[in-house]
Amino acid sequence: MSTSNWILVTGGAGFIGSNFILDWFATGQPAGVLNLDLLTYAGNPANLASIQHRDDYKLVLGDICDRDIVTRLLADYRPNAIVHFAAESHVDRSIVGPEAFLRTNIEGTFNLLRCARDHYNQLTGDERDRFRFLHVSTDEVYGTLSPEAPAFHENTPFAPNSPYAASKASSDHLVRAWVHTYGLPAIITNCSNNYGPFQFPEKLIPLIISNALQGQPLPVYGDGQQIRDWLYVTDHCSAIRTVLASGRIGETYNVGGGNQRSNLAVVENLCALLDALCLGSPHEPHAQLIRFVQDRPGHDRRYAIDARKIESELHWRATETFETGLRKTVQWYLANPNWIESVSSGAYQHWIQSNYATRAHLAEAGAR
Ligand code: NAD
Ligand code: TYD
Repeated sequence: MSTSNWILVTGGAGFIGSNFILDWFATGQPAGVLNLDLLTYAGNPANLASIQHRDDYKLVLGDICDRDIVTRLLADYRPNAIVHFAAESHVDRSIVGPEAFLRTNIEGTFNLLRCARDHYNQLTGDERDRFRFLHVSTDEVYGTLSPEAPAFHENTPFAPNSPYAASKASSDHLVRAWVHTYGLPAIITNCSNNYGPFQFPEKLIPLIISNALQGQPLPVYGDGQQIRDWLYVTDHCSAIRTVLASGRIGETYNVGGGNQRSNLAVVENLCALLDALCLGSPHEPHAQLIRFVQDRPGHDRRYAIDARKIESELHWRATETFETGLRKTVQWYLANPNWIESVSSGAYQHWIQSNYATRAHLAEAGAR
């Protein structure tokens, strides 16, 4: 593989990044992948075991805040693009410890931007025309919606409410500034909640599946009527590939699946799927495990994405419905108990203890 035929992916050992890399190779994309990942608690190189021996895949253990490493990788591999996933990504952790979020999400993005700019400035010809910086961001930068409000579009003003969302909003602003001030060919995607294989079981869907399989309580924050707009992860991956191939420089594209569901409805759906797929489970009906617990501070009530721009301009469409995606997800976790076990280490147990033990228990399932 020629050294000019690479993309640099940051955070490729995390949930979306590893799905993106697996999908990149499965769909026969014409470039190798250099994966820069610090392997925090959320990074798991085993997600990529099936491709780790390829000549056109390399995992580099390193920090996106490290100027020397990023500069060296750009100089040595001359990637066509940087696809930037690396982040601290869990809202509840950002409430307990925002420092890491400011460092990785803001300082890390700043460092990548300055290295990318230095690199881009010395490119010429095709290499320069081709180069892109794709910043993967979230719908949470737009804040929260009332029940009747129209979905977030690309011009919705930013109004982040959690430390996580504020750090991602800051990074989006930095990217925008690097396009306008320095002419860096960057594009931003803002996506709704993802779900699917390899998602760390601190997030709602894998947490519920993992707890239900063990007969543990299924914690629903507050009244469970908060709404998220769910997107199956491989649909997000195809959106990113589409934007990389044909998105316009300096633009933002919202990505969503058009699947608004309340958290309680999601949890009930999961319980019904587990009842159907785990016949004879001692925990059946799994919905009996639902517990309403103390709400997340500053909890955003509703997210919804208006994805018409990427659909009409770039002809991208989500292919999974929530029903097909959720079934595939549950089936994947049922088929991969060793994966759940391998990530449920001492550090994970410590997080579960500290996040849930102090949350007052409000009610049982059916008591609301
Ligand atoms: P994740 O937490 O599963 O993975 C993050 C990855 O980044 C891990 O592999 C981790 O080791 C790595 N990382 C963390 N700090 C690093 C650093 N300083 N240097 C190098 N690597 C580092 O996250 P995810 O859910 O896969 O999200 C990926 C991106 O997509 C994030 O930018 C997130 O904001 C965005 N996003 C996520 C969702 C979602 O529902 N998960 C939705 C929209 C947008
Ligand atoms: P999460 O998966 O943490 O994603 P985000 O906060 O980025 O949307 O949470 C999804 C929704 O589920 C959110 O409204 C919070 C809620 N939630 C619970 O009700 N219980 C839980 O144990 C967790 C982790 C989340």
